[in-house]
Amino acid sequence: MILTNMERCHVPQVAALEKRCFCDPWSEGSIASELENPLSRWLVALEGEQVLGYVGSQTVLDESDMMNLAVDPAFRRRGIARALVCALIEQLRKMGSRCLTLEVRASNESAQALYACLGFVQVGRRKNYYLNPREDALILRKEWEK
Ligand SMILES: CC(C)(COP(=O)(O)OP(=O)(O)OC[C@H]1O[C@@H](n2cnc3c(N)ncnc32)[C@H](O)[C@@H]1OP(=O)(O)O)[C@@H](O)C(=O)NCCC(=O)NCCS
Repeated sequence: MILTNMERCHVPQVAALEKRCFCDPWSEGSIASELENPLSRWLVALEGEQVLGYVGSQTVLDESDMMNLAVDPAFRRRGIARALVCALIEQLRKMGSRCLTLEVRASNESAQALYACLGFVQVGRRKNYYLNPREDALILRKEWEK
């Protein structure tokens, strides 16, 4: 498996995974437009040409937000998400960012377990942030030395 920056050729597979993994998926067009956004940084995990997982972020000044993270259900619990988030943080750190913030559904225990083991801590809660089904978001953040 290799981790690399998302390119145009990866977008259809990323969009297909988005659809499989989320009830409110980003469209293929929105994902493609991230490639043109200088604030955005998306990484994919590849086995050959197959996209196994991806993570997307946006950075303003020295603060980054994680927009999306998903791994193909057939390839979970192999450390792919952990590797993606660690590689993203390394890139963000080099770019001068000092923290990464994300929202996660209050019921999403697997993602919360992942973020806890990566050192994210809860800094807030947004009531009814998600629709479909309606649910609170936990706001998690990880900070690091520049
Ligand atoms: C959450 C998700 C990205 C994790 O991907 P993954 O590649 O399976 O995660 P990893 O293998 O890197 O897991 C690293 C650690 O996170 C924790 N973890 C991950 N999935 C877990 C689960 N289902 N139950 C409990 N702990 C879990 C474990 O501590 C795991 O380490 P271990 O396998 O050595 O015990 C994946 O389940 C997914 O795509 N879910 C659907 C989309 C989603 O919820 N995205 C996050 C939105 S905020």
